[in-house]
Amino acid sequence: MKTNNLEHLAVIMDGNGRWATKRGKPRLYGHKAGIESFKRTIKACLEFNIHILSVYAFSTENWSRPKEEVDGIMDLINEFCKTDTDFAVENGIQVVTMGDLSKLPENLQISLTNMIEKTINNNKLILNIGINYGARSEIIRALNLIIQDNLPFCDEQIFKKYLYTSNLPDPDLIIRASGEKRLSNFMLYQCAYSEFYFPKTHWPDFNKRVIKKAIKVYNKRNRRFGGLKNY
Ligand code: FPP
Repeated sequence: MKTNNLEHLAVIMDGNGRWATKRGKPRLYGHKAGIESFKRTIKACLEFNIHILSVYAFSTENWSRPKEEVDGIMDLINEFCKTDTDFAVENGIQVVTMGDLSKLPENLQISLTNMIEKTINNNKLILNIGINYGARSEIIRALNLIIQDNLPFCDEQIFKKYLYTSNLPDPDLIIRASGEKRLSNFMLYQCAYSEFYFPKTHWPDFNKRVIKKAIKVYNKRNRRFGGLKNY
């Protein structure tokens, strides 16, 4: 499928809880199904030659959820790292993260670090996972690092180096599942010229068909980055 320079896709995986509640199931049932959608999305990116996939797996605000749900999400991410590292290695996927990993359970820190290290030389798909990530704290963290480095001056190029995404281009397209139309503290600095797509589909129902539709819509967008077309 032609993707019109769609190099970096970013996804807010929303709607797991509502999807489960609609089925009379606990919220964790939705998150579990969400992992399967996540894997389908990775495979679709490989198929459509999308080079970078960023996802919002756990926000700095998600800690305020009931402990059982928080622990359950951490366990699911840990399970993913353990069972899918080989898949990542074999399919050219490099795993990177954004967010403060030091606050995560120790077993998750270990399995994430293992996945990051084992996939470090891959470059077909960069899978950037936001965990304990919030854009505001990312920006404040960058500011504090700049102060620590005693920089006399800062511009956009220098500032970018202090973000978690220092090595990545900005997202071309941000998709938020489940019909909500907000960013919820996701990649606020990086989204300055991103396109947005808000399908109604809850994340557990997300599939290749929805991604194809998103790409079709994206391909029709006229991106001018503040300039004029054909000038
Ligand atoms: C939002 O749905 C979803 C989350 C806060 C967690 C998403 C996490 C996963 C699907 C796991 C991803 C895993 C890896 C391995 C990166 P919600 O609970 O806010 O849904 P609601 O708005 O319907 O309540």
